[in-house]
Amino acid sequence: MNPSLPPSDLAAKAEQERAAFAARIADIPYERKGILFSEMFFLWLCARELKPRRVLESGRARGQSTLILSHCFPEAEIVSIEYDRNSPDVAVAAARLAGRDNVRQLFGDATRLLPEMLAPGDIVLIDGPKGYRGLRLALRLLASGKTPAVFLHDAGQGSIERGFLAKRLPETFYSDAAEFAAVAHELDGGTWDELPAANRWTDAGPPAAGYGVGLACLPWNERRSYRASLAGAVLDGFVHRLSRK
Ligand SMILES: C[S@@+](CC[C@H](N)C(=O)[O-])C[C@H]1O[C@@H](n2cnc3c(N)ncnc32)[C@H](O)[C@@H]1O
Repeated sequence: MNPSLPPSDLAAKAEQERAAFAARIADIPYERKGILFSEMFFLWLCARELKPRRVLESGRARGQSTLILSHCFPEAEIVSIEYDRNSPDVAVAAARLAGRDNVRQLFGDATRLLPEMLAPGDIVLIDGPKGYRGLRLALRLLASGKTPAVFLHDAGQGSIERGFLAKRLPETFYSDAAEFAAVAHELDGGTWDELPAANRWTDAGPPAAGYGVGLACLPWNERRSYRASLAGAVLDGFVHRLSRK
């Protein structure tokens, strides 16, 4: 396992660093469909210790996560791939990312492009495709041995992603861990309209269903056979599709 993941005492680090992160994102308004600030804070705390030269993103939409990555990793190149070049989101992302010299906006299918372009040390964020397609992409990238960590969004409790990761990659850790979310949710004021009521923070404390949408960190683990996990994802995905018919 990568020695620095998960970072030791993530909740304490979150306490120490929340103000610094808030300062970095102070001028960035939240854009709908985007990954929550608290979840990007999770990514930053985990990935900055790895000092990536590149962060590869699958699923840009309106550029919320892309812009945060650009500000949080100013020394890195942010390569963002979006499948849907005809979406109205394209112009929103382009305007939002104008002038961000460390961002490259590409179009295409990340399931094809990312395995080709991945280089040693790259960090990856997958926020589309979802479900088993996203899991298969993450596992293919980890199987290459080139990336120290893949982040996968929409991995909240009860999701396909969470069920699979709990079974196959139990070293995965999550932005909805109660101690971390207790500190980080403060960053999301004003963005909660996006969240189902069951996943919002209330005065009663953490929601039983887990705070937020759920960002998973899959640290590369030398003892893991990602090829076997990939075969498991192919099989589980097939069974899932059959069960829905
Ligand atoms: C939830 S949105 C991404 C939001 C964005 N990460 C943010 O925080 O603002 C998901 C996006 O993934 C894109 N997507 C889905 N499959 C994809 C693929 N195979 N390659 C690249 N992008 C993909 C969709 O077109 C959609 O725009």
